[in-house]
Amino acid sequence: MKGLKIMKAKKGDIPRISYLHKTFIPTGFLSSLGRKFLYLLYKNLYFYKGAILLVAQYEGNVIGFISGVKDINKFFKYFYKKNILKIIPILFLRVFRFKVLKGVIELVFYPRKHFLCDLPRSELLGIVVEKKYHGKGVATKLMNQLKKEFKRMKCKKFKVVVGSRLKQAILFYEKSGFKRIGQIQIHKGIMSYIFVNENR
Ligand SMILES: CC(C)(COP(=O)(O)OP(=O)(O)OC[C@H]1O[C@@H](n2cnc3c(N)ncnc32)[C@H](O)[C@@H]1OP(=O)(O)O)[C@@H](O)C(=O)NCCC(=O)NCCS
Repeated sequence: MKGLKIMKAKKGDIPRISYLHKTFIPTGFLSSLGRKFLYLLYKNLYFYKGAILLVAQYEGNVIGFISGVKDINKFFKYFYKKNILKIIPILFLRVFRFKVLKGVIELVFYPRKHFLCDLPRSELLGIVVEKKYHGKGVATKLMNQLKKEFKRMKCKKFKVVVGSRLKQAILFYEKSGFKRIGQIQIHKGIMSYIFVNENR
């Protein structure tokens, strides 16, 4: 795609990134927490120094993004501590559904689950490309840039946890050199696969 640019996200891109996440990963747990929650998450990723937030820009519009963190445990600790007073009102209406509260707790603590401790702490958190641009190599370009940024941070390996129903994403990770090394139920009844990329 001529004219496609991969660049660091700007603060003004955060609403668009949250929109892309909610629209193109609609079945994900994070999307179920709503746009405000996603906005807060991406705002924190934007400011957090151990995070990478890149966008794909085409004809002046953000058509995709990728995000990753150097250490998922540290990031969630920071996010939770710094935003607890914001998270509570955002989730207030939803949290009365016990399932949602449980889901948030599981999300915050899942990196500590026993066998995950042996896995790389660097993690790709999400990648999305707007549907009309699928199959044109946009995600591949985002991924290549993420790998470079991880290398700069001296991360030799990174993982991604992907819902077993996200077939396109699974094919994409396999094509991008990830190896499936296990599966996990972060949220009861929803199976996710763990993929690892050796970033050499
Ligand atoms: C996964 C996603 C980011 C891929 O974006 P994309 O820009 O279309 O991907 P690319 O064009 O770079 O594709 C690279 C390779 O991935 C594989 N792939 C991607 N989409 C595929 C599909 N629908 N069917 C089969 N293979 C696919 C192919 O091997 C492709 O290489 P090829 O075109 O040479 O065959 C995109 O489908 C998307 O945004 N999905 C919804 C959001 C999502 O599920 N994100 C992951 C959550 S963690």
